[in-house]
Amino acid sequence: MFLTGCPLSPIVKFFALVKSFMLRFLTAGESHGRGLAVVLEGMPAGVPFDVEPIHYDLKRRQGGYGRGQRMKIETDRIDLISGVRFGKTLGSPISFLIWNKDWENWQQAMSALEPVPADTQRLVSRPRPGHADLTGALKYNFRDIRNVLERSSARETTARVAVGAICKLLVKSFGIHFFSHTVSIQEIEIDLEKIPIFGEQVRETIENSPVRCLDPDAAKQMIAMIDRAIQEGDSVGGSFEVRVTGVPPGLGSFVHWDRKLDGRLAQAMLSINAVKGVEIGSVPDRAERTGAVFHDEIFYDADRRRFHHGSNRAGGIEGGMSNGEDIVLRVHIKPIPTLRRPLRSVDIQSKEPFDAVYERSDTCVVPAAGVIGEAMAAVVIASVFLEKFGGDSLEEITRNYQGYCGQLEKF
Ligand SMILES: Cc1cc2nc3c(=O)[nH]c(=O)nc-3n(C[C@H](O)[C@H](O)[C@H](O)COP(=O)(O)O)c2cc1C
Repeated sequence: MFLTGCPLSPIVKFFALVKSFMLRFLTAGESHGRGLAVVLEGMPAGVPFDVEPIHYDLKRRQGGYGRGQRMKIETDRIDLISGVRFGKTLGSPISFLIWNKDWENWQQAMSALEPVPADTQRLVSRPRPGHADLTGALKYNFRDIRNVLERSSARETTARVAVGAICKLLVKSFGIHFFSHTVSIQEIEIDLEKIPIFGEQVRETIENSPVRCLDPDAAKQMIAMIDRAIQEGDSVGGSFEVRVTGVPPGLGSFVHWDRKLDGRLAQAMLSINAVKGVEIGSVPDRAERTGAVFHDEIFYDADRRRFHHGSNRAGGIEGGMSNGEDIVLRVHIKPIPTLRRPLRSVDIQSKEPFDAVYERSDTCVVPAAGVIGEAMAAVVIASVFLEKFGGDSLEEITRNYQGYCGQLEKF
């Protein structure tokens, strides 16, 4: 009734607009299945496309001191199926596959159609604490926990890193860049106030460090901490920082709860396996941090004709919008739960207590998780960028972006 006689009412137009600029992706695939499949929709036409930066990010996700044997088997690469022609995006869905080399060893246990003898099924009946295992089995009524752990595994984040790398290709054209680094592993934490996080060398220093840490002394202690955990059959967690530079003011919204940039970034970070907390900028956790000290004062640079802040405790986001400063996120990772020294659990078949099953595992994933954090930040930033400046082609988006930059200059 409300929409009768009005095929394109303002409400319908509004939703059509939001939807048409919406970037979304879907991943599929099991950890030891044939591979991962990805469809990314909403990428405009004309974005220069190159697989090298995608493979570079995939390689970084596989690295980091404290990873297990699996990462030595895989060399992750995308096998592009659609959405790109002659090195530029077409505006159609971009789809690709990432094959699992390890599948060769799992063809029987992961057989899609043919049933296999019970002794080759690699059935799991002992849920690992800290994983989706028990609740997933209860929820789907599975008696074989492998049906859960194959998909809940962080192998899926490989697909996200590739998607994030494609999103980076889009926003790079507008001077937006991403990097991440390890801030802490267990109780070893770098003092960010003493370490310059600017300049060309920063990325090189991070990627040359086995734990992706900017402070070489802290890195040595972090490595020793991981070694000790390996010896003791234990695992360690920690935190990483993601930084986004070159973000214009005004991405996100102060108007609606679900369009606030900080909320969207926090959700994206919390969706990463084992992430348990996110901070935007510096959280005022010390008693002496009063409002007068905490907030970032505003200045105007007449030469560059732009407003800026004297500090960046807000982490580049105020009122749910980017404020033009670097976006800074601190993300906390729990120690991963599969341990050589197993935790107690209960067999779902026999209901007898048991030591949880040990399947080849990492010891510390903080350095790799930083790369995943970058990717998820890139997905969110590309999404809000398209919501503000969106169009069908890079040229159209560039016009919209330049128009906005002109508006800011004249302000
Ligand atoms: C890059 C990466 C690799 C991981 N590798 C392992 C692993 O080898 N063993 C393990 O027990 N957990 C691993 N995890 C953590 C589990 O995936 C995670 O703890 C599990 O999904 C449940 O955590 P959640 O409750 O936060 O989702 C990894 C996480 C990430 C981000």
